[in-house]
Amino acid sequence: MCGIVGYIGEQPAYDVLIKGLHRLEYRGYDSAGVALLSPDGELNIYKTRGKVDDLERFCESKDVSGNVGIAHTRWATHGEPNDVNAHPHFSCSGRLALVHNGTIENYNVLKTALELQGCTFRSETDTEVLVQLIEYVKETNDCSLVDAVREALKEVIGAYAIAVIDVNDPDMIIGARKSSPLVIGIGDNETFLASDATPIIEFTNKVVYLNDDEIAIIKKGQPLQIISTDNRPAEIDIKTLRMSVSQLEKGGYPHFMLKEIFEQPRTIHDCIRGRVGSKGATVTLSGVIENKDRFLNAHRIIIVACGTSWHAGLIGKRLIQEIARIPVEVEYASEFRYSNPVLTDRDIVIAISQSGETADTLAAIQMARKCGAFVYGICNVVGSSIARATDSGTYIHVGPEIGVASTKAFTGQVTVLSMLALAIGQLKGSVKPGVAEEITSSLRRLPDLIKQALKLNESIEQLSGIYTYVHNFLYLGRGFNYPSALEGALKLKEISYIHAEGYPAAEMKHGPIALIDHELPTVVIAPNDELHEKIISNIQQVKARGGSVIAVVTKGDTTIADIADHILEIPEVAEPLSPVIVSIPLQLLAYHIAIKKGCNVDMPRNLAKSVTVE
Ligand code: AGP
Ligand code: GLU
Repeated sequence: MCGIVGYIGEQPAYDVLIKGLHRLEYRGYDSAGVALLSPDGELNIYKTRGKVDDLERFCESKDVSGNVGIAHTRWATHGEPNDVNAHPHFSCSGRLALVHNGTIENYNVLKTALELQGCTFRSETDTEVLVQLIEYVKETNDCSLVDAVREALKEVIGAYAIAVIDVNDPDMIIGARKSSPLVIGIGDNETFLASDATPIIEFTNKVVYLNDDEIAIIKKGQPLQIISTDNRPAEIDIKTLRMSVSQLEKGGYPHFMLKEIFEQPRTIHDCIRGRVGSKGATVTLSGVIENKDRFLNAHRIIIVACGTSWHAGLIGKRLIQEIARIPVEVEYASEFRYSNPVLTDRDIVIAISQSGETADTLAAIQMARKCGAFVYGICNVVGSSIARATDSGTYIHVGPEIGVASTKAFTGQVTVLSMLALAIGQLKGSVKPGVAEEITSSLRRLPDLIKQALKLNESIEQLSGIYTYVHNFLYLGRGFNYPSALEGALKLKEISYIHAEGYPAAEMKHGPIALIDHELPTVVIAPNDELHEKIISNIQQVKARGGSVIAVVTKGDTTIADIADHILEIPEVAEPLSPVIVSIPLQLLAYHIAIKKGCNVDMPRNLAKSVTVE
């Protein structure tokens, strides 16, 4: 997700803002910009697609004077990354500037209403709608900027952290938040605003964390004021930070991978937000609605992807076939692109890619489109090459994934695939009674279920000490969780360099069982599902040959607890969504074993976060 920085005080604001944006670069972004109130009463905005260094080069010849300003690194959600969509955004009159982290879900409705009032828009972003709305409220009601922000935010549905400045009120910055973080730094006669404490910590360790539905009024030379959106004064709770900058960049976690594992309750919430309501059994995916004839007429779906995304695709196959009753094939993009496939315009190719830049997947898409197939993308990075190469798609909205080993993107991909299966099924009328209710209620519960699964962290850290120096691992799963076994094995091998293989559990007797001995631990994924009895006998086959078993089971499964060496209990979840919950202990097991081995979990040897070459 993006980064916000604001400054008001005695220092040149530009220097503080640029340094702050550099501090926030670790969060991942595609554009950067600053807005400055100059001493001669000008509001200067400079912004560009690209890196903060690009912004600095752009500003070399510009007037960057002033002691008040706001700045932003953008992680695009609405409107592709370019100079116009970059923040800060101007209001119509050019008097207000605003930066925003989050998504305005009802921006289309608000934008239409403002256009009917004569507002014109420069960008495709949801953010610009907000700054225009604030100015519209301010001018229509002839009220203060604070009151205009307060009233405008009452109309907004979505997530935001914002900072706003007004050329007519040059000694003030307004900050506000709902669901996206915003921190205020209290200095000596200077105040800072930022998405987290990393831009602030070198100037002051006194911070105030803004709460949801609060508005911060920051005025030069005056004490900080915080009010609620319904205009009640809020308590100001000043904390003293005792963290190093590098720790703060990881949100207090030792590694990005662990931070991203623990982000998953929020990222899954962000993934389903606006797509699954707080009640009801309907899924709303604009990509499906806008292309319903394609999905109604499709006689086959082919999923193409690489690595972890390919594992998500295998789960997607089960979901779409079971719920939407369309035949699905899953192909490695690297194989598909050279396979000279027989494709028609009744085929839908679904490309899954976190980075949206994987060369093999991009090439597979280009080949599929040449053959006349309709291509649908499931990406994380908005405006990425794959997102732009597809006919339509659905973003997973889990924010930038920094750790090379994919964790939150995988659970986001499986979540989107479950919504896609249901959306297509509901379009076709193929959803069996009760399935839509089961899937949507499970989707709403996922963030909480993930939180419960994350409580295994300490026990898994202890367990990892037993298996730190083994040389091979076997992962077994069945049905929806056969791909979970493949994904768990990939997580372990790519960050701990221990050889690990995933297998369908029933395949054991066709070869792998020859490997079993006391030196080969086996992870068995055995949640309560229709194949539970079968997986118990697979566990017994391993134990009978002296193998040790770590079983991922549904909480309270005493049967497997009696036969496995270790059990990792996860909460009950509907079978089609169980891979999301199952993946949590498998991510943690791989992480802790790799840490015990002293491996660089965020940047494993030989690996890149995005494989942009063949
Ligand atoms: C997964 O942990 C790896 N980082 C890798 O397998 C990755 O999933 C693969 O390279 C595909 O990347 P993409 O999703 O960005 O296309
Ligand atoms: N939704 C806004 C945009 O797409 C802000 C995204 C962000 O958090 O950077 O510009």
